[in-house]
Amino acid sequence: MLEANENKVITYLNKLTPQRNELVSKMEKLAEKDNVPIMDLVGMETLLQLLRLSTPKKILEIGAAIGYSAIRMAQALPEVTIVTIERDEHRYMQAKAHIDQAGLQDRIQLILGDALEVYDQVEKEAPFDFIFVDAAKGQYERFFTMYENLLNQAGIIITDNVLFRGMVAEDHESIEPKRIRNLVKKIDKYNRWLMEHPDYITTILPVGDGIAISKKRGEER
Ligand SMILES: C[S@@+](CC[C@H](N)C(=O)[O-])C[C@H]1O[C@@H](n2cnc3c(N)ncnc32)[C@H](O)[C@@H]1O
Repeated sequence: MLEANENKVITYLNKLTPQRNELVSKMEKLAEKDNVPIMDLVGMETLLQLLRLSTPKKILEIGAAIGYSAIRMAQALPEVTIVTIERDEHRYMQAKAHIDQAGLQDRIQLILGDALEVYDQVEKEAPFDFIFVDAAKGQYERFFTMYENLLNQAGIIITDNVLFRGMVAEDHESIEPKRIRNLVKKIDKYNRWLMEHPDYITTILPVGDGIAISKKRGEER
């Protein structure tokens, strides 16, 4: 768990973060009310800044939920187009409505389905400069392995929640319940696999819920 001082820092940063527009604020409130795990504010702002620095033209997102991060990315980068996948039909419908309300239906393509089953559909939109993995935590390695094929040379893959509320750094065997313990072990395994991946250079930022930034080595290899 976060130390009290870290919580204070997060509260401080949240207060400093500029107000979001009406639709984005509405989505943040909806996510809080319905317990939808959208990206937290500091993590989101960090991701947007990384995008501004790397200026991708095409992004693939795995895990749209209600469309929050996809809309924020599209609004931050006016040139970008996004393909985003969501398997939960109710959330897909919510995301679709939000994307329409934002007037972003031409730049955000929303796919309904399990990311592990819609590869052929996504492939048609490839290649991508940037892939954002933010879906079922137990499947990270499978998402990464499947979709890195569609990444440009020197592209970037971001994975969210890799520190899982700090639990990856705890003694895993003491974590209860067993379902969470197993998930923590899987994320830890993924992090190790990622750090040792010969084709990527990865760094993990202890920001938000932990963000792994993996840059393809491309020609550097
Ligand atoms: C953490 S939320 C995504 C939050 C979103 N990126 C944001 O910050 O606004 C994860 C979402 O991924 C979806 N999901 C989980 N596993 C999936 C899979 N295999 N394929 C597609 N969507 C999946 C869940 O239904 C959930 O809505």
